[in-house]
Amino acid sequence: MAKSYQAPRGTQDILPPVSDRWHHLESTFRKVCERYGYQEVRTPVFEESGLFARGIGDATDIVSKEMYVFEDRGGRSMALRPEGTAGIVRAFVEHKLAGEKSAWKVFYFMSIFRYERPQAGRYRQAHQVGVECFGPTGPDADAEVIALNMAWYRELGIRGHELRLNSLGCPVCRPSHRQALSEALSEVRGDLCPTCQGRMETNPLRVFDCKSAECQALVASAPSTVDYLCAECQSHFARLRDLLEAMELPYELAPRLVRGLDYYTRTAWEVKYSGLGAQDALCGGGRYDGLVEELGGPATPGIGFAAGIERALYALEQGGIEIPGRSARGTLVIGLDEESRRRALLLAESIRGHGLRAETDYFDRGLKAQMKQADRLGARWAVILGEDELKTGRAVVRDLESGDQSEVPIDDVPGWLDRA
Ligand code: HAM
Repeated sequence: MAKSYQAPRGTQDILPPVSDRWHHLESTFRKVCERYGYQEVRTPVFEESGLFARGIGDATDIVSKEMYVFEDRGGRSMALRPEGTAGIVRAFVEHKLAGEKSAWKVFYFMSIFRYERPQAGRYRQAHQVGVECFGPTGPDADAEVIALNMAWYRELGIRGHELRLNSLGCPVCRPSHRQALSEALSEVRGDLCPTCQGRMETNPLRVFDCKSAECQALVASAPSTVDYLCAECQSHFARLRDLLEAMELPYELAPRLVRGLDYYTRTAWEVKYSGLGAQDALCGGGRYDGLVEELGGPATPGIGFAAGIERALYALEQGGIEIPGRSARGTLVIGLDEESRRRALLLAESIRGHGLRAETDYFDRGLKAQMKQADRLGARWAVILGEDELKTGRAVVRDLESGDQSEVPIDDVPGWLDRA
């Protein structure tokens, strides 16, 4: 036998009927986004690797350890996108979409690629839904994006998740926090893991994000960003919190939440779901007011979030939440001999022409086997054509739910099914 292949480690095939569940998550997200006035955007799966290094940050794990980087045949350094925001900002800048007092609001479904150690809820090719909103600076935009995020989970029926919120400050207040943090960390430097010792030089805030329990314990009492916010960041955060409370969106303050990407300013949030185990983040997002400028565009604030589809599915499964099955149950058109099979094929085609689902059997099977097949397909109707039916010009239409049978002129079957 020839060599067979397996999907690469950390990737998965999404096969029917599981793909129906994906479709449900995505179509619910699309519906929610449209309600908030967002439109779909699609950007390339790969970009110049410099875009991510610059946008997400050289010192982040995502860029320094997890990116799929390759040289293309023209000798350019490219990377499979490890997240969506940088590419969307690139498109926003490239197409000159910035405008005064205008908001560009987009949503997306995308695969992302991170060379991480695969485990439950963590893939090398993962899938996200997300939104980005460019233009507004005020906290009302933050509140609206968080509301959209939570509306999706609500609409899906997911419960038991927790919104964790922080403010990371801005270029005005960051330096004083950074200094205080560096001073505090330098006292425990020798006890930090080697990676965090390096992070102290590049971006000490990253130490908060370390997975090691020792580092977590050491930073538990380190100065947090909220204690160093400038007056503007303070009032932005206070107003956001007020809006969330008014919208009855419960949250928990998480002063040590820093996120794994360097572009965030002010608002940052994650939604945790405890049933997910180590990979407990259902989604994450925040404001990135400096990113458009960093990537060569005119100073334009932005905010957004992305949510893992695999993790949302897991939360649905954990919550025992039923996903609506396929609603169009359709018809199996059964032909019992060669000529009837030919007519069955044509009849199925004209039933489809009425916008209805119809299938035929491909395997020259007898009536009994085809009726079983109708059952397997979950068909609602079986239309039977044999020698007698062709002679009289009338098909037998069987209602597979009630068992009732009717004789219907063959040419009228599509209209009859449409009315049924
Ligand atoms: P992120 O926190 O890196 O943010 O990813 C968002 C979500 O994607 C995570 O909470 C998780 O649910 C899912 N995810 C990420 N990596 C994996 C993986 N390897 N396997 C399974 N699921 C994964 C971002 O990507 C930002 N671009 C979000 C954003 C948009 N911020 C502003 N706008």
